[in-house]
Amino acid sequence: MTLAVTATVANQANEKEQLNPRPAWPLICRVPTKVIAVANQKGGVGKTTTSVNLAACLAAAGKKVLLFDLDPQANATSGVGVEKIEGASAYRPLFGDGTLAEKIKPTAFERLWLIPSEVDMCGADVELARAENHLQRLSIALAPVRESAQFDLILVDCPPSLGILTLNAFVATDGVLVPLQCEYYALEGISMMNRVLTQLRDAGVNPRLEIFGVVMTMFDARTKLSHEVVNEVRNLLGERVFETVIPRSTKLAEAPSFGKPIIHYDRYSASAAAYDVLAQEFATRLDSETKTPIANTK
Ligand SMILES: Nc1ncnc2c1ncn2[C@@H]1O[C@H](COP(=O)(O)OP(=O)(O)OP(=O)(O)O)[C@@H](O)[C@H]1O
Ligand SMILES: [Mg+2]
Repeated sequence: MTLAVTATVANQANEKEQLNPRPAWPLICRVPTKVIAVANQKGGVGKTTTSVNLAACLAAAGKKVLLFDLDPQANATSGVGVEKIEGASAYRPLFGDGTLAEKIKPTAFERLWLIPSEVDMCGADVELARAENHLQRLSIALAPVRESAQFDLILVDCPPSLGILTLNAFVATDGVLVPLQCEYYALEGISMMNRVLTQLRDAGVNPRLEIFGVVMTMFDARTKLSHEVVNEVRNLLGERVFETVIPRSTKLAEAPSFGKPIIHYDRYSASAAAYDVLAQEFATRLDSETKTPIANTK
């Protein structure tokens, strides 16, 4: 009798399953890894300082962050205390030799990983220009890392140009974070960058491409100029500009020589606080712009 009941329940369950067949693999909902490129073709505006410190603050706040050093100068690499080692950069995976996942290195800081750069990246721009799919190389190489959902965020520190490496970052990214130095001509170049973003979007290579945010750097509260520049940028670019402004600070300039982000070099400094608050603002914007989670079908 007990056996008969068990058999009936099993049959009913089978019938139910036929009506609502189970997927062949578990369906897990997850938030996709976001990729943000930190870019401005102007040199020395605070791209690397922002990449390193934002990445470190977000990691300290609980996000799993991959800092991707795409600049042959490799300043982000040394900024988190990682040595420049031959063959350690994204160069080879960009040309199909090995994977980017193999290049990911842990740092001394919890939840912060790095894809280092080194001098071989110097040749990447010229060689990419001759390669097939030359604009999509990075996007293709990064896809498995994104899909693994190992990281909440990949932050790409771009070189100071609109060369092919930067264009590759634009094709792979969900948005661009633009650091602007508080000086005259701060906005010089942003219209050119906007034009490039529009062209890439219109060409269909990355339909989600847009300026994610603008952060004002090296603000000196004592100068009228700093205040004027911030006001002008806010008037022109509106809410894309983050409320948080990064102050000019000697500690911030010193920290890379110790291989440490500012929160690990001088935790209670004003610039550590500024990057912490920027990280909160950044994370809130990122979360609000993260659309419905995608289903993992693997
Ligand atoms: N808020 C700041 N206060 C003081 N110095 C800063 C600040 N931000 C950046 N710097 C210093 O200014 C210089 C340029 O900064 P950074 O390297 O971040 O700019 P970048 O845009 O990445 O430069 P590049 O275009 O060469 O890649 C560095 O020496 C850095 O330490
Ligand atoms: Mg830099």
